[in-house]
Amino acid sequence: MAYLRSSLVLALLSMFSSLVLVSSITYDVVSLGAIADGKTDSTQAFVSAWTKACASVSSAMIYVPAGRFYLGQVVFSGPCKNNAITVRIAGTLVAPSDYTVLGNTGTWLLFEQVNGVTISGGILDGQGTGLWSCKASGNGCPSGATTLEFSNSNNVVVSALTSLNSQLYHIVVNGCQNVKMQGVKVIAPGNSPNTDGIHVQLSSSVTILNSKIGSGDDCISIGPGTTNLWIENVACGPGHGISIGSLGKDQQEAGVQNVTIKTVTFTGTQNGVRIKSWGRPSNGFARNILFQHVTMQDVQNPVVIDQNYCPSNEGCPGQVSGVQISDVTYQDIHGTSATEVALKFDCSSEYPCSRIRLENVKLTYNNNQVAQASCVNAAGTSTGFVQPMGCL
Ligand SMILES: *[C@@H]1O[C@H](CO)[C@@H](O)[C@H](O)[C@H]1NC(C)=O
Repeated sequence: MAYLRSSLVLALLSMFSSLVLVSSITYDVVSLGAIADGKTDSTQAFVSAWTKACASVSSAMIYVPAGRFYLGQVVFSGPCKNNAITVRIAGTLVAPSDYTVLGNTGTWLLFEQVNGVTISGGILDGQGTGLWSCKASGNGCPSGATTLEFSNSNNVVVSALTSLNSQLYHIVVNGCQNVKMQGVKVIAPGNSPNTDGIHVQLSSSVTILNSKIGSGDDCISIGPGTTNLWIENVACGPGHGISIGSLGKDQQEAGVQNVTIKTVTFTGTQNGVRIKSWGRPSNGFARNILFQHVTMQDVQNPVVIDQNYCPSNEGCPGQVSGVQISDVTYQDIHGTSATEVALKFDCSSEYPCSRIRLENVKLTYNNNQVAQASCVNAAGTSTGFVQPMGCL
């Protein structure tokens, strides 16, 4: 009887383990030739791990063990034979510190046309300092490379990933559907140029949760064609805050719609929550936007709508923004402003902002003094306690 029972258990166990083996194959980059010394070029090992995982008819895992792996540009392209590839990273991927290597390639680690990819753990070290000092000294520098981009891809998960010192944007989501990021950390100095944390455009159903982003540009930037975006429990700073826009750069442009940004803290940032459009004709729009439970700590411009963006005064003087901004709700926004004007709505004279709602806002300036609000071409309502008093 005892023998029978244990052989039954054994049979079940072996069935189970063979099922596990069949359902997922692991490709360890080290067994494919990668070397964890931080300087030997391991690009080919990663490319061959991807090629095998992508050709696998069942789900696959790429495993990157502990250690530092030096990589040039890697393009992880689909479509693949399966729609469940996990890239499990225990170590650190290191970009070339010589910025001429990636130069103007645009992206260091690019996933394109993939479906069902999960990236879990790991550190991406963009080695941006050389390019930043080139840009600071002014001439002839390449624009640099985004650290990680998902392009024209669906059903992507990024979890517990750290992106460090990117040359350009840290993470870009472009032309994607159903992307979930959680536990992401972005770490770059407040004076590092163009190092946006996460940029989303032409994408729908993107969720960003429980993340911490410090950089030299926008914490999260939301470009044209973003719909159904959900951001929750994010800490920003240093950097330029969360920005919808710049919108309206082009005459024909997809709008931004249904964006929720809740439980966000800004610490020492240039802006808090901002909507920004170029001051020139466009059919773009931003509507159904909710900012909720936002804490400002010493933020220079906590709440901003700026429809007169025109860098270097080129291509817009004498024109007004065509971007229509409507149904924007600010609910429970509180904390401190580093400047006197804590709330600034500067909308288009041709298409004034409409249905702006302020609900329970308390922003103070300089040791509890009441901050100021400024509104141009903006209409809407204030309810509950609103300070500075709305100028709507
Ligand atoms: C708005 O987006 C959220 C996801 O962020 C989604 O759950 C919801 O259904 C969307 N609402 C509409 C009206 O599309």
